[in-house]
Amino acid sequence: MRTLPKVELHIHLEGTLEPELIFELAARNGIQLPYDLDELRRRYEFTDLQSFLDLYYANLSVVLTEQDFADLTRAYLRRAREAGVRHVELFLDPQAHTSRGVPLATCINGVSEVLKNSESEFGISSSLIATFLRDRPAAEALAVLTELIAMDAPLVGVGLDSAEVGHPPADFVEVFDVARANGLQCVAHAGEEGPPEYVWQALELLRVARVDHGIRSLEDSTLVDYLVANRIPLTVCPLSNVRLRVVDTIADHPLPEMLDRGLCVTINSDDPAYFGGYVDDNFAAVRDAFDLSADQLATLARNAVSASFLPADRRAPLLAEIEEWRASR
Ligand code: HPA
Ligand code: ZN
Repeated sequence: MRTLPKVELHIHLEGTLEPELIFELAARNGIQLPYDLDELRRRYEFTDLQSFLDLYYANLSVVLTEQDFADLTRAYLRRAREAGVRHVELFLDPQAHTSRGVPLATCINGVSEVLKNSESEFGISSSLIATFLRDRPAAEALAVLTELIAMDAPLVGVGLDSAEVGHPPADFVEVFDVARANGLQCVAHAGEEGPPEYVWQALELLRVARVDHGIRSLEDSTLVDYLVANRIPLTVCPLSNVRLRVVDTIADHPLPEMLDRGLCVTINSDDPAYFGGYVDDNFAAVRDAFDLSADQLATLARNAVSASFLPADRRAPLLAEIEEWRASR
């Protein structure tokens, strides 16, 4: 069976750090971890976003050198190729590294040296989105953005992530204004745990081109109408929503309602090393839970092409690949 060609728009590089690689990097960097692999695996049970973020940030302590960032990026691309990913817009959290003393250049150079060859090495075109941590001061985000611009980091855009509730998009207006003035695209996590009001703020104040998660938008029908009318994409992450208890089970996920309402929904993996699956697993989970047809799966894949920041000449061949897949079913 041929794999559906996919565009992945909501994936955090740091969220692809697999337990085995944590131990490999720890050994290489002479770090003694106070637990073994089995014990680490037992920590992957989350009650909410914060309980996940605590482990996500803690595990990064082993990622130190350019080589570490390059290896992490390469490991993701290798797995993404298997998943049928043909283009990725990858999130990177610079402050998760600068805050522990890793120079910005170490992290950007390690990631970008691999991404620049992703097409020839893995058959996956790629671009990078720097995401700012909303639970840290906006002034810090602005300083990091200024440094990224000064070093001419190869970015397509900026985003906003980490602990959502209590950290509204409104706090980051200046950061996003500077990003936009420098030609960067804007996206933001909103409506994952936070209220629809945060989605409105992301749209109206940060002027985002797409909303990451956005699942709680369904609680505000005026917002849904606005998202549909303006064809604002939502990057939905089904397995993440289950593991972070945004929904109880995959069968309770509102994906069918989102599609029925006419929302431009895309399927993504968020933090696959933590949530039990890569993007192919997320597609399989919703296909099985909702008995989705090849037409519906192709629509989800096409939505991601249209939601991407790819130029028109790159979209057409991807749409043709998706159509070829659909026709072969
Ligand atoms: N939500 C917010 N912040 C994050 C996530 C997420 O799902 N993954 C990594 N950082
Ligand atoms: Zn995310």
